[in-house]
Amino acid sequence: MSVQIAPSILAADFANIQREVEMLNASQADYIHVDIMDGMFVPNISFGLPVTEAIHRHATKPLDVHLMIVDPDRYLEAFTNAGATVISVHLEACTHLHRTVQAIKALGCKAGVALNPHTSVSLLEDIIEDLDLVCLMSVNPGFGGQKFIPRTFDKVRKLKSMIDISGSKALIEIDGGVNLQNAPLLVEAGADVLVAGNFVFSSSNPIGTIQDLKLL
Ligand code: DX5
Ligand code: ZN
Repeated sequence: MSVQIAPSILAADFANIQREVEMLNASQADYIHVDIMDGMFVPNISFGLPVTEAIHRHATKPLDVHLMIVDPDRYLEAFTNAGATVISVHLEACTHLHRTVQAIKALGCKAGVALNPHTSVSLLEDIIEDLDLVCLMSVNPGFGGQKFIPRTFDKVRKLKSMIDISGSKALIEIDGGVNLQNAPLLVEAGADVLVAGNFVFSSSNPIGTIQDLKLL
């Protein structure tokens, strides 16, 4: 299967959210990546439930919701009701990650776990079989438009071999600073889903840029 693309709506023009979602509907994007930031787990605040619902109202693509919030268990049901298809929580924000992952699945969503750049993929060894997706942060979460951290390539390779050995069906998603330079190398290392915010929305032709990433 070709690489899947998840444009991050964080980089969109929020004053024209319907138009931006319709652009993504018309593109080859596989998901719409929805970044939720609480000003606690990360320094920044993005948007929350009403905006997610509004995105979902216009979207024909599944929503890939990335919760960068403390104690995400409090909001799993609310984001499911707001239209999430995938919910990713941060390993660093969960004391009882196994319970949280089961709770996401019980709500009927696909369960993802996101790792900060400093967090070793080896910490997933005892939960990898339960996961639908692992989101490797290739920047420190909190802001779009940051520089890709090259150490990510090794993490992708290590995670890929863990997934292959365990028989897990988890997809490997890369989030942060993805562009046409690093994307082919990420796919070669084993990435299945690429998140792209600024690279897509700052380009003069976002639909064409999504297609370029898709054609890798
Ligand atoms: C960072 C977010 C990313 C971000 C990606 O905290 O999780 O999804 O929006 O944006 P770019 O592609 O601009 O780094
Ligand atoms: Zn994200």
